[in-house]
Amino acid sequence: MSQQDSKAGMWSSRLIFILAATGSAVGLGNIWKFPYITGVNGGGAFVLVYLFCIALIGIPIMISEIMMGRRGRKDPIQTLKKLASESGFSPLWSVLGGMGVLAGFLILSYYSVIAGWAIAYIPSVMQGTFVGLQASAIEQHFNAMISEPLILMLWHSTFTIMTMLIVAKGVRGGLEKAVTFLMPLLFVILIILLIYSFNNGAFAEGLSFLFAPDFSKITSEGILSAMGHAFFTLSLGMGAIMVYGSYLPQTASITGSAIWVAVMDTLVALVAGMVIFPIVFANQLEPAAGPGLIFQTLPLAFGQMDGGSFFGALFFVLLVFAAWTSSISLIEPAVAWMINKFSCSRARASAYLGFLVWLVGLLTVFSFNIMSDVTFTQGMSLGSAEIVFFENATFFDVLDYLTSNIMLPIGGLLIAVFAGWLMPEFITHNELSVDKKIFYAWRFAVRWIAPIAVLIVFMNVLGILKLIQSIFS
Ligand code: TRP
Repeated sequence: MSQQDSKAGMWSSRLIFILAATGSAVGLGNIWKFPYITGVNGGGAFVLVYLFCIALIGIPIMISEIMMGRRGRKDPIQTLKKLASESGFSPLWSVLGGMGVLAGFLILSYYSVIAGWAIAYIPSVMQGTFVGLQASAIEQHFNAMISEPLILMLWHSTFTIMTMLIVAKGVRGGLEKAVTFLMPLLFVILIILLIYSFNNGAFAEGLSFLFAPDFSKITSEGILSAMGHAFFTLSLGMGAIMVYGSYLPQTASITGSAIWVAVMDTLVALVAGMVIFPIVFANQLEPAAGPGLIFQTLPLAFGQMDGGSFFGALFFVLLVFAAWTSSISLIEPAVAWMINKFSCSRARASAYLGFLVWLVGLLTVFSFNIMSDVTFTQGMSLGSAEIVFFENATFFDVLDYLTSNIMLPIGGLLIAVFAGWLMPEFITHNELSVDKKIFYAWRFAVRWIAPIAVLIVFMNVLGILKLIQSIFS
């Protein structure tokens, strides 16, 4: 999907666009990250905040990204430059595109390590490694795996190469096939697992953990990570969806597409949560186990189910595919940019960037073993209040925090401001071509709701609101 072959309307239909955008959105974020951060943040209240963020911030920003991409028809950096000058604003807005390119690059560096874990589990499950094992033995298996830097490097390298090979060729052919066939299959497997969880897990307890909000459990940090995750899971805030939008035919409905993608993405995440937590509670596992959560719970189900080795292997194969279709969109903006900037070939840009991603990814690989005690604590004091951003965080934690909780929301905020305030109303109205009510609802959301919500969540973490309160009280 290079600049060169980005003739107007690359996607053969709106359906293909929806599938490709869903392929980007549905990935490790839904099946690995959503359950793990929901567990860490105490369940229901976190999920509720996340759902609000999807509806009120995510969908309007997704509409903006698709629209800007389709109007600009270039990589995010050039699209922003073009749209800014079209509306009479500084070409410096392209810096926003640059930040997005960097965010995608950094996310991919750790994304491919986690995808590597999923690859490593394919042969293990297939060979029946988990059959009849207790939860503690499965946990040991996981811990043994992540303590081996060479093994993690092997699978991290494999996944990086898989991603860059597709990107080097241009993603059109493979991507369309993967999303039309494999994504529905992944969903079917999730439903099979849901039935298992329903019959064998502590289903009621799992559901109440996920859906009964206990607001005493949510912190301002939790709210920030719910918002950050809304951006992450919908692939927003860094131009990935913008690039996909740039291949969208002029006539396709943008709002309808965005809603479809968001609904499907959310559905996959919620079903994944409904699979995982009943297993967690039935086996007295720790919901806040962290990044290893799905790798310690799902094998338990596969080890007990009839045909578990088959379904388990298939599940991890499909998870790797889901991660694959997402990782492509994480690096595509960088590749498109490099091709333009240095006029190099797509293959060369992919090779260079792939190597760099791989290198930075080693920091994540080592975060789980030889560098696990290299940790960072970052905070600041505001008046009398001490604010902690992260505590004893590994490289992996810091990378994840910076990208999901800082870069994506700032990127999204600026995209909303750009689409809502800078682009002239007649242009956006014309691009979206929906009826007035929907148009003004979208415009209100990107002008007011999304920017203010992001700012409040940031300020909340900074404790500034508390500070202002104390000044005026
Ligand atoms: N949304 C994907 C997931 O949930 C990850 C992803 C792909 C992404 N492209 C992105 C995240 C762009 C942020 C920005 O797994």
